[in-house]
Amino acid sequence: MKRILSGMRPTGKLHLGHLVGALNNWVKLQDEYQCFYMIADWHALMSEYEDPKLMKESCYEMVRDFVASGLDPGRSVIFVQSHVPEHLELAMIFSDITPLAWVERVPTYKEQLREIKGRDLTTYGFLGYPILQAADIAVYKADAVPVGVDQVPHLELTREIIRRFNGLYKRDIFPEPAAILTKTPKLLGLDNRKMSKSYANFIALSDTPEVIKKKVNVMITDAERIRLQDKGHPAVCNVFSYFSTFTKPDNVSKVKDWCEGALRGCTECKKGLAEILIENLDPIRTRRDKMPDSEVEGIIAEGAKRARKAAGETMAEVKKLINLMP
Ligand code: TRP
Ligand code: SF4
Repeated sequence: MKRILSGMRPTGKLHLGHLVGALNNWVKLQDEYQCFYMIADWHALMSEYEDPKLMKESCYEMVRDFVASGLDPGRSVIFVQSHVPEHLELAMIFSDITPLAWVERVPTYKEQLREIKGRDLTTYGFLGYPILQAADIAVYKADAVPVGVDQVPHLELTREIIRRFNGLYKRDIFPEPAAILTKTPKLLGLDNRKMSKSYANFIALSDTPEVIKKKVNVMITDAERIRLQDKGHPAVCNVFSYFSTFTKPDNVSKVKDWCEGALRGCTECKKGLAEILIENLDPIRTRRDKMPDSEVEGIIAEGAKRARKAAGETMAEVKKLINLMP
């Protein structure tokens, strides 16, 4: 079976954006690939180092969200990055062969330095972010990496580093990983801005029905639809795009007709959306709530064992190739 690896930084509870933008896809990929799903705590630390007190709790929450969403710890390796020191060994070697200019020109690097306020990211570690990411992928010899478009530059650098490594030592040790891009349309936040933890404009996978109702209620609708008799424009309404994402096509066209024909008001429409989201998230929340810490700890321990085995095999091969002592 071909292998994939992907990861997320543990920076808080997961939300609907993670579900449709990544997790649902990760769940499907389990049927076709041997999957490694990683909680990238070292990567999180690169930006959260000043205040890491929620790190452990976020890792636990992430395992709950992963498993409740359908990642199967029996088939997939669900693990915490910092439990597998082999990533760092390979990152060290990759640092040696990566020209400084390659990391300096990664577009996300300068962008984040500019955009992320209130944190000092002018560190050595942060510059090396994509080198560690390349090692994350290569240490499992992953053939493919499911990611969002924002990660494409990192994957491109990964491929360049791998090509350089294979070229320097004249052995195709690492496959050049392909990107598996998620096709789902981007889900905006409740306020029509990008869905993000820092804007607090998301519905978490763990939100209760009451919270979901409240959140859906404040969603922005078609601004031109003020009175009930005004005809609406679903294409510009965020509530409608949620319908398109979370319900079946015949249901979606019903909502469209109601809106365009001014047959129902936005309040009623939102009630319908809240019900659908509650129905979608109910099994996830129930599964999460049933998962004691001990179960989470068991999954993490088993994941670490399996990940270290695979990563260890790669490192033994790498060390032999470049004449490092075993
Ligand atoms: N950089 C990724 C993100 O922010 C997380 C990540 C770390 C990752 N290592 C990875 C993703 C390896 C894919 C493969 O989303
Ligand atoms: Fe949006 Fe529904 Fe209101 Fe139409 S009726 S504008 S789809 S909330």
